[in-house]
Amino acid sequence: MTQTKKIAIIGLGYVGLPLAVAFATKYQVLGFDSNPQRVNALKQGQDDTQEISLRELQVALKPNKKIGLRISINPKELTGAAIYIVTVPTPITPDNKPISAPF
Ligand SMILES: NC(=O)c1ccc[n+]([C@@H]2O[C@H](COP(=O)([O-])OP(=O)(O)OC[C@H]3O[C@@H](n4cnc5c(N)ncnc54)[C@H](O)[C@@H]3O)[C@@H](O)[C@H]2O)c1
Repeated sequence: MTQTKKIAIIGLGYVGLPLAVAFATKYQVLGFDSNPQRVNALKQGQDDTQEISLRELQVALKPNKKIGLRISINPKELTGAAIYIVTVPTPITPDNKPISAPF
């Protein structure tokens, strides 16, 4: 039996979107972003970062059971992925210093 593993990418910006589109050529990818404007634009094939062309997005956004990219704002859809890749902004202080974790 073939088992399809899903990859989840959290944060579809300069880093996450190209990664999601590249992985979607070989795997089933769920791209999650918390910004509704970003999600809606991407679903229509528009990448404001201009990293990915309309054509590349259109090809990626034709998921089948084995490969392709699905974009969502619903965190429930993140369940069941085999791999999670987090590409959200690094939290920084007002003077642009990374905020370290409190542990
Ligand atoms: N852009 C670069 O050239 C570059 C280079 C090296 C490292 N990085 C690192 O990669 C990471 C991502 O950078 P980027 O440039 O892609 O950022 P970005 O701002 O372009 O994209 C981040 C995306 O994450 C989304 N997001 C924010 N919080 C979220 C959350 N809680 N859940 C889901 N989505 C969320 C935003 O809506 C946005 O679409 C950062 O940690 C950055 O330091 C970036």
